[in-house]
Amino acid sequence: MSGAVLLTGGAGYIGSHTCLVLLEAGHDVVVVDDLSNASEESLRRVAELTGRPVAFHQVDLRDTEALDAVVAEHPIESVVHFAGLKAVGESVEQPLRYYDVNVGGTVSLLDVLQRRGIRRLVFSSSATVYGEPETVPIDEAAPVGATNPYGRTKLVIEQILADVAVADPAWHMVALRYFNPVGAHPSGRIGEDPRGIPNNLMPFVMQVAVGRRDELVVFGDDYPTPDGTCVRDYIHVMDLAEGHRAALDRLDDLPGYRPVNLGTGSGSTVLEVVAAASRAVGRRLPRRVGDRRAGDVVASFADPSRAQQVLGWQAGRGLDEMCADAWRWQSNNPQGYATP
Ligand code: NAD
Ligand code: WQD
Repeated sequence: MSGAVLLTGGAGYIGSHTCLVLLEAGHDVVVVDDLSNASEESLRRVAELTGRPVAFHQVDLRDTEALDAVVAEHPIESVVHFAGLKAVGESVEQPLRYYDVNVGGTVSLLDVLQRRGIRRLVFSSSATVYGEPETVPIDEAAPVGATNPYGRTKLVIEQILADVAVADPAWHMVALRYFNPVGAHPSGRIGEDPRGIPNNLMPFVMQVAVGRRDELVVFGDDYPTPDGTCVRDYIHVMDLAEGHRAALDRLDDLPGYRPVNLGTGSGSTVLEVVAAASRAVGRRLPRRVGDRRAGDVVASFADPSRAQQVLGWQAGRGLDEMCADAWRWQSNNPQGYATP
């Protein structure tokens, strides 16, 4: 393989797992991350697991000149763009910060790539762009319409990518719309390490399991689903990482811009996740039912057939494996990367 892959946000949760998969596949990797929501320790462990070095630069994407200097230093051939802010509630309170980092950071990145003649990009989008879906499973032709500023930044970025690809047909771009990434590398050495109180279900459950939180509050059990709790398409982060490798490998055959769902195609309720987590941990996890959370959609799961057709990829790992791997990570690293 000639050139290297630039990973923006590559020290984060999904970025670090993708970094590992790409290194194992023989790619050279360069990471830029401002460490605003990550620790360099994740990359140190990726290097340890793969036996391969990771070139790392602590750079804020919005610092266009610093980013340009990094790109100038390495033979970058393609980019996977993970960097951004992702907390829905925070985005409602700080919309300008979200537009600045997510949209501004992307414009800065595209500016540098354009200057340097790099025209291959994989972008981290989200199933959140579908808002409240009219039907499930959700395919890529479903109407989009996010319900919060975070989701709107993803929609704006997707639109920018589509516009840029029209303006310059040399571009090859894929926006991967992730459903609900969970789990960890099976070594238990890298995983999800949220700062503060986790917003997402799986890290919260794992922090209950390890004793950092008293109990899980299930956000509503009166939804029109089999057990009354919301349905989501949980996808193992290693499957997701392999989806990025597949996208990079197929990118030459994918001119222009296209969105592709990364999901398993099957939904699980909150109580099914808690049951699987309890099996992984080996005991019943404390939980109580609370109020619905504002803005939650009842059911969201992917039609993953485009990913199969276009990328030759499909998810293979089930909910029990997701929970077992999440638990191995959390029990070995109760305080995440800060564990002594
Ligand atoms: P993460 O916070 O672990 O990773 C994002 C990384 O970007 C972090 O390492 C952070 O330090 C870095 N970053 C933030 N702002 C930056 C900036 N201005 N310059 C450079 N680096 C910056 O999150 P993640 O879960 O790994 O998510 C990665 C991407 O996937 C994000 O774009 C997110 O919106 C998207 N996504 C995540 C999920 C999910 O549930 N985790 C679902 C759908 C989409
Ligand atoms: C899953 C289910 C909750 C926590 C969010 C973002 C989305 C995407 C993924 C980035 C829901 C329930 C949760 C808890 C609970 N991120 N829950 N108690 O809401 O599908 O999506 O993360 O793009 O944009 O909106 O995921 O993990 O927050 O929730 O009962 O303490 O678990 O109500 O049904 P969600 P989640």
